[in-house]
Amino acid sequence: MNKCFPSNEIILVVALLLFCKPVTAQKDNQQKLSSADKAKIESLLGQMTLEEKLGQMSLFAAEWDVTGPILKNNYKKMITEGKVGAMLNAYTVDYVHELQRLAVEESRLKIPLLIGYDVIHGHRTIFPIPLGQSCSWDLKLIEDADRVAAIEATAEGINWTFAPMVDIARDPRWGRVMEGSGEDTWLGCKIAEARVKGFQGTDLKANNTLLACAKHFAAYGAPQAGRDYNTVDMSQLSLYEWYLPPFKACLVAGVGSFMTSFNEIAGVPSTCNKWLLTDLLKKEWGFKGFTVTDWTSINELVNHGIAEDNKDAARLSLNAGVDMDMVGSTFLDFGAELLNEKKVNLTRIDEAVRSVLEAKALLGLFDDPYRYCNKTRQENEIMTTDQLALAKKLVSESCVLLKNPNQILPIPEKIKTIAIIGPLGDSKKDMLGSWSAAGQWEKCVTLLEGIKNRTGNKMEIVYEKGCNTNDDDKSGFDAAMKVAMNADYIILALGENNWMSGEAASRSKIDLPGVQNELAEAIVKTGKPVAVLLFNGRPLAITKLTSLPIAILETWFGGTQAGNGIADVLFGDVNPAGKLTMTFPRTEDQIPVFYNGKNTGRPYNPADPNAKYVSRYLDCSNDPLFPFGYGLSYTTFAYSNLVTTVEGSKINISVQIANTGNRDGEEVVQLYIRDKVGTITRPLKELKGFQKVLIKKGETKTIAFNLTTDDLAFYHPDLKKYWEPGEFVVFTGTNSVETISKSITVK
Ligand code: NOJ
Repeated sequence: MNKCFPSNEIILVVALLLFCKPVTAQKDNQQKLSSADKAKIESLLGQMTLEEKLGQMSLFAAEWDVTGPILKNNYKKMITEGKVGAMLNAYTVDYVHELQRLAVEESRLKIPLLIGYDVIHGHRTIFPIPLGQSCSWDLKLIEDADRVAAIEATAEGINWTFAPMVDIARDPRWGRVMEGSGEDTWLGCKIAEARVKGFQGTDLKANNTLLACAKHFAAYGAPQAGRDYNTVDMSQLSLYEWYLPPFKACLVAGVGSFMTSFNEIAGVPSTCNKWLLTDLLKKEWGFKGFTVTDWTSINELVNHGIAEDNKDAARLSLNAGVDMDMVGSTFLDFGAELLNEKKVNLTRIDEAVRSVLEAKALLGLFDDPYRYCNKTRQENEIMTTDQLALAKKLVSESCVLLKNPNQILPIPEKIKTIAIIGPLGDSKKDMLGSWSAAGQWEKCVTLLEGIKNRTGNKMEIVYEKGCNTNDDDKSGFDAAMKVAMNADYIILALGENNWMSGEAASRSKIDLPGVQNELAEAIVKTGKPVAVLLFNGRPLAITKLTSLPIAILETWFGGTQAGNGIADVLFGDVNPAGKLTMTFPRTEDQIPVFYNGKNTGRPYNPADPNAKYVSRYLDCSNDPLFPFGYGLSYTTFAYSNLVTTVEGSKINISVQIANTGNRDGEEVVQLYIRDKVGTITRPLKELKGFQKVLIKKGETKTIAFNLTTDDLAFYHPDLKKYWEPGEFVVFTGTNSVETISKSITVK
């Protein structure tokens, strides 16, 4: 090449410097320590023995709600010896009071304990599973639900929750999709922020707020083949663009702790990943809280094949930036030896201990270690009428209407007899869903109960199970057919059991398990109107079911108020407005299938369906069964008049939405963009905004969105985030596929 001319790379860099603008810095909401707290912590550090320091870096489990091996069960004695910094799976005022008493009255330095618990979707009042909640697209309601969860958990002694789980997930086979907010990073960030606010409030020292924990850092939601705990391997760019932002959103919202994930990323398990925990999280992002491992994940470094033994694993994790070991006891068992052998240093240990003590100070535990042990609160602030009403509202807002031919739903008031059929129709235990903390299944309202509560004696309601969820026994079909024949209207309650999603609950086939499809096919033959209600913790590949002439309402696992909230939707007291936050595939073979994929060089063109050398399957459509953002209403909406104006860095968008049906209804108006040409390829669509609005029947509303050029930014190969001028397509619509669009040029 002629040396006089700059290379393509130099031209590119100069072009980027000239035209690409960095994004505006985000505000950091981490709560601040008082100078008295800081002094107290330094004084404690000065007095602590090495063993006491390692104790603060150790989290042990009480016997309840075990999700792995219990390695130490003499924790009460260990607390008095100053060898425990935190406990998990312990709650109720009496129990926690006793543990705190051992810590602050019988240990030498009287340091109170962190009391952690998986308060994932409510504590006693159980709300819908988080994936369901996310389908409400109601950030305030989600925040309020976690506020209630925090009130109830702190009323029972808990001061730290292992939530929110903010793992982006594109593979519905992975059981833990139930615990997150679906596949979209932008929405995931908004929900992450709402949830941290709900848990932590604005003042961690209030007695009804608790410390949140962003988990699982990082990329736990992308295990190969959707198998839990499996290897994760992806480009740095994907990690930055899709998987890390919800964690950053938690940090910006002030989250107090981060949990490392079980998985490896590019050969290095997160639990010993110095780049991830120290260079990125602590140094680059400036995280001031503490990091905790997942359950025995330090010990598991041996299985990963990156540590020789538990001692070696402790060395790797501590040096990588882990501050607290969950259950594994490796810091306590090997910290002293490692220090003597100069394999770890005291500065790192002090830094870890300081971060744990700071969390305790932020929670006000040094002022009053029993501040979360208040019996009056335990009696008065749990499952109150208002809390249950909020749970019921979130159940109906989480429901997504997938299909509704001939307006089968809502159930007409003139119906005399309803037959509820199916294994999920009267199953209290399943209503809780997975990860239901201290939820009591006996207190759940089932579908049958909810419908009876709603109809009183105006309708006759009969129930038949028909079959089990997950076996091939059809002996109940006859009885089910009998009640079906005698009813005017049939509700089929189908889906998964609550244990079929959540941790260690991956499924390779995600159609309805057992003989439920056959039950549905048999019932449909009666010719009666049939509404199927789905109860499940993940998107399902229900192509067979969907081909039947039935209505389908996705209800997830609704929690304590499941039946009542669903009944509101069934009878039209609430017009459903939920929208999917995770794509439903036609078949498992399409996975991963998600809305924000790339065009490829040989995109499939529906107008030329038999073209050969294009990116498609020979035996299956590329399109999913139900796309991201999808959900019907009992009314209909028409989008028109999309107007866009670009003024400097501002992009103003407005669209008119008419309610063209005959009911008032809420619509989640979605805004997507496509960056037409980038220095790296961009997705076909990216969600950039939404508004959930009530539009009365016959009414037309104009909805405005105000983006700035910051909203166009994306990560580049140098891992910097900035936007590039050029042509963009703006889409608005009722889901990620049915949109109207307009091109704009942003300079
Ligand atoms: C393992 C899970 O992965 C994590 O999410 C949870 O917080 C811990 N167990 C504690 O129960």
